[in-house]
Amino acid sequence: MAQYTTLKNFLASNNNRFLEQNNEDLQNVLNDLAEASISVSKDISRAGLIDGFLGAQGGQNVQGEDQQKLDVIADNAFIDVLEKGGAVCGVASEENENFVSFNNPKSQSGSYVVLFDPLDGSSNIDVNVSIGTIFSIYKRISPLNGPACIEDMLQKGTEQVAAGYTLYGSSTMFVYTSGQGVNGFTLEPSKEEFYLSHPDMKMPVKGRYYAMNEGNINECNPKIIDYIKYCQSRDNDYGSPYSGRYIGSLVADFHRNLIKGGIYIYPCTKNAPEGRLRLLYECNPLAFISEQAGGLSTTGTQRIMDIQPEKLHQRVAFFTGSKNMVEKAMGFLK
Ligand code: AHG
Ligand code: MN
Ligand code: MN
Repeated sequence: MAQYTTLKNFLASNNNRFLEQNNEDLQNVLNDLAEASISVSKDISRAGLIDGFLGAQGGQNVQGEDQQKLDVIADNAFIDVLEKGGAVCGVASEENENFVSFNNPKSQSGSYVVLFDPLDGSSNIDVNVSIGTIFSIYKRISPLNGPACIEDMLQKGTEQVAAGYTLYGSSTMFVYTSGQGVNGFTLEPSKEEFYLSHPDMKMPVKGRYYAMNEGNINECNPKIIDYIKYCQSRDNDYGSPYSGRYIGSLVADFHRNLIKGGIYIYPCTKNAPEGRLRLLYECNPLAFISEQAGGLSTTGTQRIMDIQPEKLHQRVAFFTGSKNMVEKAMGFLK
């Protein structure tokens, strides 16, 4: 592994053009997120062998969705590591109705807040299909040495200082941006280290994959139906029908499009009139990554990162992926 740089060294490197230099606090937050991801990755990879890891927790989160045991295990793993780290004064996650302000004095002197989806792709947990973690990091607005406040959490995506995801797939990968490009790291499980495997990732400007839960197609605006017909037509920009690929784990669908080129859409439906995906800890972080890699993320009509959030678990329609493909989809929605 000697030829590969570890995530820790990459973050600490003096000539790292991918992280604000000498920002040890932000390095620590990213390292802590990676550390919690390694622990979650270990739990996921042996989940079928450990009592109490698979299946439903028996409760629902604030959004009325059944919590899986691993949703709660992952949520606790990320909260614990961030609370101990000291650079983060508070967090918000999919699994908690309200944000959490850390009470200890070291955390209250921390400059950052982290918003996250601890496990993305719940329906895939029990069936051994790729799942993920998504995170977003902001500078706090509240004064130092006090509690975090709701305004810290409800910042526009354009204010993100870093964002990323961990994909628990056929290998585990940690992908992040801090506003100077996107880098991907692969976990070497026997060493419990992430190594730089995908430097300076760029999303192809076009591709031939589209990802949508087409079970919902008749629940959508007719303009969406027209766009999907375009994807399936020989008269599209590719000259042949795009291939449909829908995993049902946003992180996995996004990662495929980041590498191969493609578009992911989750529009408003009759059942989810505001969209299904959550702005703060699903769409904004992936929007930041997509733009940093040369792609685009919109609601169909508005840039995701320009939305002023009004509530923690706000949902939005989400179109993300290769620049030319997202622009084409937006043309259908005019
Ligand atoms: P989560 O498991 O964090 O609640 O997120 C699930 C999300 C996302 O991962 C996925 O793309 C989408 O919901 C799947 O929704 P459908 O089952 O409606 O397709
Ligand atoms: Mn999710
Ligand atoms: Mn989740």
